[in-house]
Amino acid sequence: MVHYQRYQLRKCGGVGEEDEEAQTLVLEFGSSGYYKRTKPKILPLLFVFSLVSCSLLLVPHLFSCFSTISLLCTFEVENDRVAVDREADAPICDSISNGSICCDRSGFRSDICFMRGDIRTKSASSSIFVYTSDTDDDFISYSLAKEGEGAEEKEEELQHEKIKPYTRKWETGVMDTIGELDLVVKKDKYGRRHHCDVQHSVPAIFLSTGGYTGNVYHEFNDGLIPLYITSQHLNKKVVFVMLEYHNWYMTKYGDILSRLSDYPPIDFSGDKRTHCFPEAIVGLRIHDELTVDSSQMQGSKSILDFHNLLDQAYWPRIRGLIQDEEREAQLRLKERVSLFPSSLSPEAGEQKQEEKEKKPKLVVISRNGSRAIMNEDAMVKLAEKIGFQVEVLRPDRTTELAKIYRALNSSDAMIGVHGAAMTHFLFMRPCSVFIQVIPLGTDWAAETYYGEPAMKLGLKYVGYKILPRESSLYGQYDRDDPVLRDPKSVNAKGWQFTKKVYLDGQNVELDLRRFGKRLFRAYDYISKKNQRAVQ
Ligand SMILES: *[C@@H]1O[C@H](CO)[C@@H](O)[C@H](O)[C@H]1NC(C)=O
Ligand SMILES: *[C@@H]1O[C@H](CO)[C@@H](O)[C@H](O)[C@H]1NC(C)=O
Ligand SMILES: *[C@@H]1O[C@H](CO)[C@@H](O)[C@H](O)[C@H]1NC(C)=O
Repeated sequence: MVHYQRYQLRKCGGVGEEDEEAQTLVLEFGSSGYYKRTKPKILPLLFVFSLVSCSLLLVPHLFSCFSTISLLCTFEVENDRVAVDREADAPICDSISNGSICCDRSGFRSDICFMRGDIRTKSASSSIFVYTSDTDDDFISYSLAKEGEGAEEKEEELQHEKIKPYTRKWETGVMDTIGELDLVVKKDKYGRRHHCDVQHSVPAIFLSTGGYTGNVYHEFNDGLIPLYITSQHLNKKVVFVMLEYHNWYMTKYGDILSRLSDYPPIDFSGDKRTHCFPEAIVGLRIHDELTVDSSQMQGSKSILDFHNLLDQAYWPRIRGLIQDEEREAQLRLKERVSLFPSSLSPEAGEQKQEEKEKKPKLVVISRNGSRAIMNEDAMVKLAEKIGFQVEVLRPDRTTELAKIYRALNSSDAMIGVHGAAMTHFLFMRPCSVFIQVIPLGTDWAAETYYGEPAMKLGLKYVGYKILPRESSLYGQYDRDDPVLRDPKSVNAKGWQFTKKVYLDGQNVELDLRRFGKRLFRAYDYISKKNQRAVQ
């Protein structure tokens, strides 16, 4: 934590320019209870400070974006991490000896254990063994072994650890659904260690894809980013062994997983064979919400590197889509030319295409059900009038991520109401604009889970906090009702109230005059950025 704050302070230090946008970021704190899945308060004051100063800091980011194409911005963002000081936080278990286990249980969000030596899995008993042989110097336990015991008992347990390889350690409810692994160091005097069915030459990482997997925020926050953090130094020479394995997860995230590992993942409980490894990491490291703290990474890797990995991961699929479309377009063109030879002037078509490409593109991530924008159509029309080319996306659990990536990677701005789908800000190019509409009672979560991480990726973040009259709750409650006047007090009553009232029970009717100002400023910002890029 300390480290993280230092990072923030440096990154944001020395800037004091006022930005109206920053006002939307003024937060209501103290409701550490808003989202049951939150971390207890983390020095709120410092957090406020770093958040506000970060929002101010968008100004220099802005300049760096203006100064040339986004390459320079990328450079800027990358530069930040060079400045981070690196002496602190030498990880526990940095080096472990052969035939042993070392567990680091100091993390707030996760435990992680390291094993080295002759490692063998036994999924039937949810165990992973490390065998040491007689030649290893454990004289005391050796000499204490009694004569006459059964051979089984002579395989002495030298060390025994238990771990659940999931990154929400503080949430007992969800941790109860995660399988627990027994990690055991055993002395094998008589060569009775169980037989290897599959011998791997590279390390394993054991993780759970259970828990809240199924929700895109959790899939990235609890799983994929921690997996990136934990596996980067292995350079894809690693096998992922998954507890609570799901086939759909492989389909959905196969292209990302194959960028992290050269080997197919293993379904721990479904694959009963004994897998043997020279090294294993059990559990994942996690830094903060949807981010990578470069000060804790080998090679100072950051969230931007994770973003770039996504780009590589989705490119083959997107290239395929583009080729398909080109083929189809060619076919259609041929048909049309053969039917109406005079109707077509290819130059005109091209020109139209070019015009379209020049317009800044805005993607609206649309919600259906709760937290929907009731006047979305009018908002889209307004955005078009301002000059945006608008694409409305309605992602659901089955939407192919490569397609969402493609839409966002080609866009200059994204708008959405606070919710898990905001996780897709990770797909945006640095220096693009992310406008998050923040319904009543969701300020803390909106900023913590998406606003702040988006800024760390180098996006220009705008938090649009709605007024009570822009909420559907306005018509349902008295003006003086705490639901409208004091959401903090409602959130303080507990998660089920937050969920029922603000998350599930609220829609948004944007005040288009008020919201339009943000849109217009975003448009202005993007146009200036693009002009500089052209120059
Ligand atoms: C560690 O243990 C394994 C298995 O017992 C052995 O093959 C390997 O050579 C050992 N490595 C070192 C560095 O001692
Ligand atoms: C994303 O956009 C950048 C810049 O336009 C482009 O170079 C890159 O290939 C795109 N990535 C994918 C996966 O389409
Ligand atoms: C919204 O969701 C309902 C079901 O919850 C569905 O019937 C409807 O088609 C959805 N509308 C859109 C536009 O996706």
